[in-house]
Formats: sequence, C-alpha cells, structure tokens
Amino acid sequence: MSPAFNLQTCARLNILALEPYRCARDDYKDDGTNVLLDANENAYGPPIGSGSSSDTIAAEAKETGLDLLGLHRYPDPHQVDLKQQLCTLRNTHAHTDKTLTPENLFVGVGSDEAIDALLRCFCVPGRDRILVCPPTYGMYSVSAQVNDLGLVKVPLTPAPEFGVDVPAVLEALSASVEASDYDIKVVYLCSPGNPTGSALKKEDIAAVLGHPKWNGIVVVDEAYVDFVADQRTASLAEWVLEWPNLVVMQTLSKAFGMAGIRLGAAFCAPPVAALLNALKAPYNIASPTSALARNVLGAEGLAAMEANRAKLVAQRERLVAALPQIPGVGRLRGGTDSNFLLYEMLNKAGEPDNATALAVYTKLAEQRGVVVRFRGKEHGCLGCLRITVGTEDEVTRFLEALKTTLAEVRV
Ligand SMILES: Cc1ncc(COP(=O)(O)O)c(C=O)c1O
Repeated sequence: MSPAFNLQTCARLNILALEPYRCARDDYKDDGTNVLLDANENAYGPPIGSGSSSDTIAAEAKETGLDLLGLHRYPDPHQVDLKQQLCTLRNTHAHTDKTLTPENLFVGVGSDEAIDALLRCFCVPGRDRILVCPPTYGMYSVSAQVNDLGLVKVPLTPAPEFGVDVPAVLEALSASVEASDYDIKVVYLCSPGNPTGSALKKEDIAAVLGHPKWNGIVVVDEAYVDFVADQRTASLAEWVLEWPNLVVMQTLSKAFGMAGIRLGAAFCAPPVAALLNALKAPYNIASPTSALARNVLGAEGLAAMEANRAKLVAQRERLVAALPQIPGVGRLRGGTDSNFLLYEMLNKAGEPDNATALAVYTKLAEQRGVVVRFRGKEHGCLGCLRITVGTEDEVTRFLEALKTTLAEVRV
C-alpha cells in the first residue's frame, strides 16, 4: 500500500519541524472552578443584552438558547468531542475493519481551509505542483495560485462518465518523479464531482494511491458524499486507515445544510492530521460553530438531515424526469450522486451551445429571479448549466421559468 509514500520527505521541512502554538489551557483546563487569567479574555462577557453583569448575560443566554457565557472564552483548539462524532458517522466498516478516532481528523473553517492547509503542509511555493482533474471545484486552483504552486491538469474522461483518466494521471505522476525541477505533491479528486455529480470509482482512486514511485498525497473531496445512494459504502473516510497518503475531505455545508457555520473536516492518517493540526491557527473553530455542529451530528440532527436529504433526492428525481420534457434542454451530462444536476442547453439547431446557455442563465437571473450556474466554459461541459436541487416550490418556479426562458431565447 502506497509503496513510495514517505511523510518525512513528502511534507515541507519547515512544517515537519514546527512546534505548535501552546496555550496555558493545554496544561490547565477550564473545569468551571478555575479563575482563568491566562488568555487576556474579558471576564464580563460579550455586550449582548441590556446589562453586563453575569446574571443578566446568563438570563439572555437562556432566552436566546445560545450559551452566551461561553463566548468570552477562546474556543477549544482540539475539538475532540466534535471529531469523535464525525468519526462515529463514518465508521461504517465498509472499507476496513479498523476504526477512525479523533487522531484521524483535522477540522477547519469549511473544507476550503483544509484545501489550503494541505497545500501549505506539502507544497513548496514557487516549486511544487498540484494535479487536478477538470471539470472540478475551482478552489483547488485558486488555493494553488495563492500558494504560488503550479497546476497539472489531467481532464476527467468525457461525459457522462466523468471518471478519473487513470493512465493519464499515473503518467503525469511518473513524469513528476523523473523531473528535477518540480514535484507534484498533491492530487485533488472530487467525488462526487463538482460540477459533474458523479462519484469516482474506488478502484481508480486506489490506482492513484498505489503509484509505485510517486511520493505524494491523494485528496478525495467528498463534499457531496451524503447524496450518494448507497450510504454505507459511499464515503472512503475510513480508508485513511489503510492508505497513509489518503486524505478525505468532508463538510457540513451541503447535506447538513450548515454552510453558514463553516465547518469542514479532513480525515487522514494520524501523522498527517498531526501536521495539519500543528500548522492551523489555534482557535480556528468558533464555539458557536462547534456547538451547532455537535448538535446536527447528534441523533436528532442526523434524523432531520436524513429527512431533508430524502426531500432533496425526491426533487432531484423530479427534475431528472421533468427537464427532458422542456424544449431546448439537452442531455444530463454528469451523474445524479449529488444535490445538483448538469444539463445542456440547446440552440435552435438542437446543439449544445454556450451562447444559449449564457442567455438562459442571464435571463433566468435578471428577469425571473432564479439563479443557477453557467458551467459551459468548464472542460467537457459545453452549453451546460449546473442546477442546484431546491425545495419543491423552488423547483416548480425553476421549471416554469426555464421553460419560458428557453422558448424566448431559442426563437
Ligand atoms: C467540491 C467542493 N468542495 C468543497 C467545497 C467547499 O466547502 P466548504 O463550504 O466546506 O468550504 C465546495 C463548495 O461548493 C465544493 O463544491
């Protein structure tokens, strides 16, 4: 498994040598009885409510349901309880008999923080490169540019499969092993893909992870994994217990409907998680974020998430049935493993066409107040719009607006 992976030569030397920031509370916990005069906080608490005495604040906290008293303290840098809940969710034992523990986790400000942290951990600015498979999520290349890293693009196989082009990826990694002036350190795979909506094959990911000579990290971004049909096998999170060079990213922004709290996670082998945790800002997860995340990961939250997911899946199926009936809607280009669909818009001649798709996109937004995403310039997505699955009413409004708009645009 991962024959050539060696963390000591793969990670940046400055990160391997990092002494993480320590706070006094790493030694002396807030047990509710200590007087905490170590972190220059404000013991009177936040100026919420009519007064500043702790009694008033406690009353406000009760009224709003928020633990306002906690807000004047820095949040927990380690988030072990939250991490345990994330592990429990993903310990399906579908991919290994081993069990994830909090040592397998980095939690960040959305998975966008994990995307960037991984680059800072492994890639030397101005020298190293990352490999991405277009069409894919745009933040990998934005983060690469911020970190002054080169980009190697190996497109996915053509629609509708949108799978990993395994021979081409392996060849690009072999070329990087031979090159003297750069290394590909990180491969970003998105499964289910954005904007493709297709889950990648496990054996294709294994082929990349098992490259015989390449020393690097494979990141599987599972932002949309909770929309895949077979929930027991969908996530590869626990596979990090078998592959030391695998990182699996997840987020509460999608199926959990919590984009506003900004909570993302990266499952990794413990030595990789330790490096990511060493380089992060100590208090990256705000207390309200942690409390809300722990709430939705509890039994009631999970049941509510599953109910919402079922509603979204029903609307996704409705869209798949209704869209082909609308004149001017072409083929579904990707899969249905996600909470969005990628559809072609056709010109008068019946061909997928960017001018038509762009006109539909603009008119929908400006004249009908329905905003979707134009993806026609992405590799292999000619004439495509990406449509997020909404509520029943939103889907009704979208379908009506699309029908009228296409009729106007295609005259
Ligand atoms: C594939 C993919 N990964 C990650 C993200 C970002 O997630 P987060 O909100 O956790 O930063 C998105 C958001 O659209 C996404 O599409």
